[in-house]
Amino acid sequence: MTSSDIAPLAQIQSTIVLAGAGNMGGAMLAGWLARGLDTCHLAVIEPQPSDDIKAQLAKGVRLNPSPKGLGAVATLVVALKPQSFRDAGAMLKSFTAPSTLVVSIMAGTTIASIGEVCGGSVVRAMPNMPAAIGRGITVAVAAHNVSAAQRAVADALLRAIGSVEWIEDESLMDAVTAVSGSGPAYIFLLAEELARAGVEAGLPADLATKLARETVAGSGELLHRSELASSTLRQNVTSPGGTTAAALEVLMGPDGLQQLMTRAVIAATRRSRELAK
Ligand SMILES: NC(=O)c1ccc[n+]([C@@H]2O[C@H](COP(=O)([O-])OP(=O)(O)OC[C@H]3O[C@@H](n4cnc5c(N)ncnc54)[C@H](OP(=O)(O)O)[C@@H]3O)[C@@H](O)[C@H]2O)c1
Repeated sequence: MTSSDIAPLAQIQSTIVLAGAGNMGGAMLAGWLARGLDTCHLAVIEPQPSDDIKAQLAKGVRLNPSPKGLGAVATLVVALKPQSFRDAGAMLKSFTAPSTLVVSIMAGTTIASIGEVCGGSVVRAMPNMPAAIGRGITVAVAAHNVSAAQRAVADALLRAIGSVEWIEDESLMDAVTAVSGSGPAYIFLLAEELARAGVEAGLPADLATKLARETVAGSGELLHRSELASSTLRQNVTSPGGTTAAALEVLMGPDGLQQLMTRAVIAATRRSRELAK
């Protein structure tokens, strides 16, 4: 990619349509506006807009415009539930032309099926829930007909909700979904189970919940800020023969977290493949 292909959001001068402004679409919209995307280029298609979305109207974002009124759409971002996608096909198609970049964040929906329904040039992306605070990680894969300039626009739009990794092999998306797409739920479960175990160990429930929550959140922040590998951070807080070592012997023992996490990620990968059929 050359420097002329780089597309910071504030420099985008072409029309962007966001279809579906729910949890993830709404987070993307908030990220774009916070990073200076000009509202006059933005339209949102959403049958039941939240108050937050309605508030954007005053700033110039168009809500549910007709395709005719919009003119050429350079970029369509599809943030619908995969099960709504086929039914919304005719509506989505009415916003695209062969030159339109279509960025989809729908789980388990392939480049081929997005292209079949929407036309245009497709980027398939998988963000995750910390996108809601601008700290998501998105993995993206581009169809062969996506130009370098379109890829730069997709990158800028996705980078507004966190970091972005590009891959070449779409078949990796099922495993990506299983690791980072579904991953936040595993971490929330960790906080739940740490709290529950704390109660079993004798702590009052509210204290155990607070300790578990802050431990997960603080450790996540430390991991984010540190350049050290997670294994090094773990070793740094584990004294030989100490309390942490006693717990890790259980967690890292036979049928421990390694085996459990491997089975969980395999199950999610398999489910993602099934949903894509
Ligand atoms: N949430 C996550 O953690 C996450 C992570 C990675 C990827 N994703 C993907 O992101 C996509 C959206 O997920 P979400 O959690 O944001 O779902 P969501 O909150 O249900 O958002 C989807 C939105 O699209 C709207 N919609 C339905 N039909 C429409 C139509 N024909 N035209 C325009 N808008 C329509 C829905 O409105 P109604 O509520 O009225 O139906 C809803 O507001 C999914 O494909 C999911 O796989 C989500």
